[in-house]
Amino acid sequence: MNAPSSLPPPCAGLRIGDMAPDFEARSTIGPVRLSSFRKRWLVLFSHPADFTPVCTTEFVALAREAAAFEARDCALMALSVDSLFSHFAWLRMIRDRFGVEVRFPIVEDPTLVIGRAFGMVSALDNDSATVRTTFFIDPAGVIRAMTCYPANLGRSVPEMLRILDGLQAIDARGALAPANWQPGEPMLAAPSHNLDDVYAAKDVTGWFLRDNGGKA
Ligand code: BEZ
Repeated sequence: MNAPSSLPPPCAGLRIGDMAPDFEARSTIGPVRLSSFRKRWLVLFSHPADFTPVCTTEFVALAREAAAFEARDCALMALSVDSLFSHFAWLRMIRDRFGVEVRFPIVEDPTLVIGRAFGMVSALDNDSATVRTTFFIDPAGVIRAMTCYPANLGRSVPEMLRILDGLQAIDARGALAPANWQPGEPMLAAPSHNLDDVYAAKDVTGWFLRDNGGKA
């Protein structure tokens, strides 16, 4: 039976626009403090457990694309409830089996203090494993996007990069990213809030659905 709790279910605790809660913890690259990653983008993500199949494929895929995150001035930081020594043993196995070294930090969170602050784990769940949450944190420390996948569905690294590209392009151009947007494709302008623009538009969608004219 699940214990009653006032804590929210996974992914319901923090909202887009919130400051990412700061923490300091042990990780595979030494002690890390979240706030020391400010001035760069940061993708903070949780995984259910070390030495599990889907998680292993995610870490191999992310380690292979680490340079693509670096190219976007974005650090990666992983987190699970497993101990630092479990993380080390898993990374050694990944290196020996798949030929990739995971060099981004993996934080240990055995007390779930970080996982609970970020809503990475359900307080209603008897299983303490974190679910697959991903937080896209901007250089000011603000959560700009987040995703939440179940343990049995691996994340898409191309989609993680696309989210990052989209957020960075939105900031750089003050524009909107349409469905399926990819870097290099046109973006949308914000809709007008002025009734004169509504009546002056050449067609019925011209005042709210229009590209941004390729403005950088
Ligand atoms: C996995 O990574 O394969 C996994 C982890 C926890 C539960 C189920 C699957």
